[in-house]
Amino acid sequence: MKEFSEKVTKSILTGIQPSGVITLGNYIGAIKQMVRMQDEFKSYIFIADMHAITVPQDPVKLHENIRSLVALYLACGIDPDKNIIFIQSENEYHANISWLLECNTPFGELSRMTQFKDKSSKNVNFYAGLFTYPVLMAADILAYDVDYVPVGIDQKQHVELARNIAERFNKKYGDTFKIPDVYITKEGTKVTDLVDPTKKMSKSSENPKGTIRLLDDEASIRKKIMGATTDSDCLIKYDPDNKPGISNLINICVALTGKTASEIEQEFTGKNYGEFKKYVADVVTEEILGIQKRYHEIINSDELDKILDENACVTREIAKNKFMLMKHKMGLYK
Ligand code: TYM
Repeated sequence: MKEFSEKVTKSILTGIQPSGVITLGNYIGAIKQMVRMQDEFKSYIFIADMHAITVPQDPVKLHENIRSLVALYLACGIDPDKNIIFIQSENEYHANISWLLECNTPFGELSRMTQFKDKSSKNVNFYAGLFTYPVLMAADILAYDVDYVPVGIDQKQHVELARNIAERFNKKYGDTFKIPDVYITKEGTKVTDLVDPTKKMSKSSENPKGTIRLLDDEASIRKKIMGATTDSDCLIKYDPDNKPGISNLINICVALTGKTASEIEQEFTGKNYGEFKKYVADVVTEEILGIQKRYHEIINSDELDKILDENACVTREIAKNKFMLMKHKMGLYK
């Protein structure tokens, strides 16, 4: 079984859906934080494949995307010796715990989830799993008694729901779950769509020009950035309310270079949008091409299967213990 260093006492858990090739938003909002946190925290990092099936998926593509996401995690710098990387559906206890939690979650609370309202409004024929999805997310989190859940701002409401569910369960049945905190970094808050910078950059975006995916080729990454929506006043200034397009590009540079927004503003004082976009394209392509090089070395390796098999056993054991405790507390047999 994987042993974490004794110095490491706090833990984190997070996951990404394999519903398409992950985006620069996922990278900046989630993966970079995980890489930064991996030396200080026990980290559980998983592929949320059971979340992906809450909307229709092509089975062949889904299967490919799952493996591809594991390889991308590693290529982005998530170290398999420091993190427990696993696939959600390989651990059946997540779904088992989710059912017990569903039976303790008011319908009204789930109806208020903004992501559900948004997704269900776009499609009349949605399935029950889309509605109960936040409870599965609570199960993912609560099974491991983690301290923090690093996510982008779009997932904050779901983590808050997990906290409410845990608090209510503890009150009703006695101490069962640790209450986790959401962890959001400023620069990872929200990377927005390049065409419509008022929307988040999303794997499922209808317009591919607005989304940079980590496996896009260099030419198309550059083209998308050079074509990003900006404004007409030709001032490189961080002002998300009035200049969402330019502010998004500055935000991306802050996250990838470590410079502050005001350092970038100063560097580009008097320069035009074309020059700034070229700089953004250089920064983004340098980062992504490095990731792609490592990705191609990893994607077909046996090492990947070994990591997943080992970690499936480790996480099953932990989640099984939590499930058994819940069953006992709720009066289920055994
Ligand atoms: P998902 O797959 O939509 O996104 C994965 C992570 O990426 C962040 N993110 C972004 N951050 C900044 N800008 C963006 N444009 C952007 N797009 C996505 C998300 O906030 C998230 O941190 N339900 C989750 C997956 C999940 C999960 C969990 C996460 C399932 N169980 C338990 C944490 C803990 C989801 O759909 O993420």
